[in-house]
Amino acid sequence: MHRRLVISTIAATALCGTALAGAATSASAAPLAVDCRKVKCVALTFDDGPIADTRRLLRVLKDRNVKATFYVVGKNVQKNPSTVRTAALAGHQIGNHGWDHADLTKLSAAKVRSQLSRTDAAVKQATGKNPTTLRAPYGAHNATVRSVAGRPLVHWSIDTLDWKHRDTARLIRTVNAQTKPGDIVLLHDIHRTTVDAVPGIVNALKSRGYHFVTVDQLFAPGKLPAGKVTYHNRAAYRP
Ligand code: NI
Repeated sequence: MHRRLVISTIAATALCGTALAGAATSASAAPLAVDCRKVKCVALTFDDGPIADTRRLLRVLKDRNVKATFYVVGKNVQKNPSTVRTAALAGHQIGNHGWDHADLTKLSAAKVRSQLSRTDAAVKQATGKNPTTLRAPYGAHNATVRSVAGRPLVHWSIDTLDWKHRDTARLIRTVNAQTKPGDIVLLHDIHRTTVDAVPGIVNALKSRGYHFVTVDQLFAPGKLPAGKVTYHNRAAYRP
């Protein structure tokens, strides 16, 4: 009610699915309603950007009508605000991944708060909207981090190790072999080999009937609780 931007309409459509899908008019990128309780869904998540190459990834996703979630690093948002704005306008979800990818468990509560609020502000400036979920860098969290977060922590159910192997063919095979309905796949758009793998990943999973959704869509109509960590796929989630 307090957010009236077009991108908010897209986000609301993603969240509320069937209720609002028909309301999207000019936002041609708004996703069709997908009910992940009924169809096979997977949430691709891209961490640590945006960098220049993120634009190439956005084109790959757009060409295939794939929605994803970006866990962005605040200082990279500050450098590439228009990329984050383009992503949000395309219907992708933007999540908070800290200001400079520091291990939050090594920081005071005040510094954790600063990591998150600076990133929130950069995303808000770029997109008009605050990120509603956090992915802690390295997946590292403790009671302070969870409390300061004040929002759900969304981690992953498939760790592709793309950052380690930097091997496009291997990454396609890994994701295709491991993905089950409801999975959250950890990927990094800062690696060219990962962006190169996305067409192959999408082709493989689409041929098996998967729908590509944002994290919010994956759990809709449920809402993840603040301060709790979601490692598991949708099937394991108990609201
Ligand atoms: Ni990261």
